[in-house]
Amino acid sequence: MNVTTKATIATIGQYVDQEVLIEGWLWNKRFSGKIGFLNLRDGTGFIQGVIAKQDVPEELFATAKGLTQETSIRVTGTVRAEERAASGYELNVTGVEVVAVTLDYPITPKEHGVDFLMDNRHLWIRSPRQRAILKIRAEIIRGMRDYLDNSGFTQIDPPILTPSSAEGTTNLFEIEYVNGEPAYLSQSGQLYMEAAALALGKVYSFGPTFRAEKSKTRKHMIEFWMIEPEMAYVTHAENMQIQEAFVKHIIRWVLEHCPQELKTLERDTEQLWKVVNEKFPVITYKEAVQILQDKGHDFPYGEDFGAPHETELTNHFDLPVFVEKWPADIKAFYMQPDPDDPTVVLGADLLAPEGYGEIIGGSQRIHDYDLLKSRYEEHELGESYNWYLDLRQYGTVPHSGFGIGLERTIAWICGIDHVRETIMMPRLLYRLYP
Ligand code: 4AD
Ligand code: MG
Repeated sequence: MNVTTKATIATIGQYVDQEVLIEGWLWNKRFSGKIGFLNLRDGTGFIQGVIAKQDVPEELFATAKGLTQETSIRVTGTVRAEERAASGYELNVTGVEVVAVTLDYPITPKEHGVDFLMDNRHLWIRSPRQRAILKIRAEIIRGMRDYLDNSGFTQIDPPILTPSSAEGTTNLFEIEYVNGEPAYLSQSGQLYMEAAALALGKVYSFGPTFRAEKSKTRKHMIEFWMIEPEMAYVTHAENMQIQEAFVKHIIRWVLEHCPQELKTLERDTEQLWKVVNEKFPVITYKEAVQILQDKGHDFPYGEDFGAPHETELTNHFDLPVFVEKWPADIKAFYMQPDPDDPTVVLGADLLAPEGYGEIIGGSQRIHDYDLLKSRYEEHELGESYNWYLDLRQYGTVPHSGFGIGLERTIAWICGIDHVRETIMMPRLLYRLYP
């Protein structure tokens, strides 16, 4: 018996001029007279299979012609290098075995509205664009871990169920714990990561994060994933340098590992290379307000930026921009005041270019016991934070960290206009999809 080599579309280049077996699905097809084109997918990629009536048994040609979208098939064929093909290869089809017939697949090659596609998210993820985004998501995670794991960080997993808030109570997700007692879904693992940093030096967490955000925007999710590095003996200035190196590493990683996917998404990679190659500007909040006012925005000192302001600021530089030294009263209770001006904090947001806005929030943390205790009293934080105060009593040191939102980073790197396409099943305000 002739046993054909199983191949995947992603690695098909290894099999030029050989006959291989691809196990997958029919994505779509086109027949004109005596020749047919089968667009096949196998999860690793897409490839065009060519079938000519004169070269194959009549029965095989008829089977191929009758295939319907998303029918599961095993296809054998000879691999050919083909410059004009998106993948660089084509398959001369020599056999088709139907595994299961699909009829009336709901997502056809015609245009569908986003609501319809979101309702069919479980199927939509099969399409080339969605596959490319999910692939890039996985590579961004790999790139992030690659950087951190090779820079002396240890991964720590903080809890998801928490007795108190980390970032303020306005968007806290409350659930019933036991006997009517409340617990909250984690808004940030940061406070726990500070304990871990004093134990292991450089640490990071990576996990789901929950915010009952009342913001229905293209950047806000109820459930998103965050990477939170935390570092003992690291200052605010060093924190920003690490963030810049980290972001550059991730972008370079995606450029190197996902050229095909970036092409599928028609991403302008010049913009990404520019981010890799140029220094990120650092401006103070005060300077940012001045830029906005100079550009005609009626923006008062002391408010948080909205999307149009973030876009204006990054367009001004056409690069990611750190905005540092925010007014203390619009930032979290734990941020270290600037010794030169205690009304502002040693924290920075990193704003991504091309209108993507804030992707990182970070700061140096208050390490002085008395100062942190007075912040507690101002914010009426109560006793559930006593363990956090302990960290300032036993071996306290200056330390800093940051949180990078995975979905916003993916949207930016992919150049797509909404975070809903960056995760398999997005959790957004007012609506739980499948
Ligand atoms: O700026 P945030 O709130 O910072 C923190 O939570 C700190 N405790 C992080 C730290 O220092 N360890 O959130 C950090 C990032 C934001 O910059 C953004 O990218 C993302 O998390 N983020 C969201 N992403 C999607 N949907 C939301 N509702 C988000 N809220 C924050
Ligand atoms: Mg923030």
